[in-house]
Amino acid sequence: MATDRRPDDMIRITTPELADAFIAEQVKDIREQVGDKKVLLALSGGVDSSVVAALLIKAVGDQLVCVHVNHGLLRKGEPEQVIKVFRDEMKANLIYVDATDRFLDKLAGVTDPETKRKIIGGEFIEVFAEEARKLDGIEFLAQGTIWPDILESEAGIKAHHNAGGLPEDMKFELVEPVKILFKDEVRVVGERLGLPANMVYRQPFPGPGLGVRCPGAITRDRLEAVRESDAILREEFAKNGLEGKVWQYFTVVPDFKSTGVKDGKRTFDWPCIIRAINTTDVMEVTVEHLSNELIDHLVDRIIKEVPGINRVLFDYTPKPPATVEYE
Ligand code: XMP
Repeated sequence: MATDRRPDDMIRITTPELADAFIAEQVKDIREQVGDKKVLLALSGGVDSSVVAALLIKAVGDQLVCVHVNHGLLRKGEPEQVIKVFRDEMKANLIYVDATDRFLDKLAGVTDPETKRKIIGGEFIEVFAEEARKLDGIEFLAQGTIWPDILESEAGIKAHHNAGGLPEDMKFELVEPVKILFKDEVRVVGERLGLPANMVYRQPFPGPGLGVRCPGAITRDRLEAVRESDAILREEFAKNGLEGKVWQYFTVVPDFKSTGVKDGKRTFDWPCIIRAINTTDVMEVTVEHLSNELIDHLVDRIIKEVPGINRVLFDYTPKPPATVEYE
């Protein structure tokens, strides 16, 4: 029986057996709700939307239409992984939209952080709505709402992202199969549905993506430096057993240059800042202290492998006073 609220006595889903029972119940509920109709899902590749996609594929197969919008601000390898996992392996009906140029053109020259966020959010809805309009017979919209989203929206902390802010004329009935779960439970369910561990246990990643890690006006070359340095950092954290242990870690490439020297010639390039933090609620965060060996290795790889970088800096500031992201 579908329920809108998490029962007070619900046992926390921590084992494969509990996850299997939840999956079986949701598959039944989804089939009852959706019948033979089509369901649309914005699949970002994040934990919640990926688990919702896997649940719906299991329940209604190709009645689910997933739309993956690449806004050009995703991490290295992310769109490729979404295509590989969902289209190639799970045989999902996946529409991939590479809207990189559209987003980066709109963002060109925009320096104000909140304006950047608004452009990214607004453009995302527009691209998604355009794709939805091309499809016939969609009656349902699936969303990765989880229980803390509902609690926070009830407490007035967060606006409930109901229907993702789609235009008024686009009315769908919502399918929210993980809405009574906590994040850790979503991960256990995702693993049982066969999603790769690096997708299910991935660190939080902001909606505006690498856009907020390329402070000020985003340029393609500086964005590429953020993407490449982030990929090196993630690779080294995984190799050193820090993946899944450190809450969040990323690089930032600020919009200023400093003098350096390479192969006997003067350089004038950007610094790359490394930030790695731990927290339970992101209101307060502490810094992960890296070993000297890892610090040296990260510096060496980033200055050698990332074009445009001639210095690597480490941000060892807790929150407060510093926020996690730079803008
Ligand atoms: P701050 O910078 O506020 O970040 O200390 C706290 C957490 O929120 C994430 N964050 C965002 N997530 N859209 C998101 O979906 C955003 O605009 C955004 N800004 C910050 C940040 O990555 C950290 O986990």
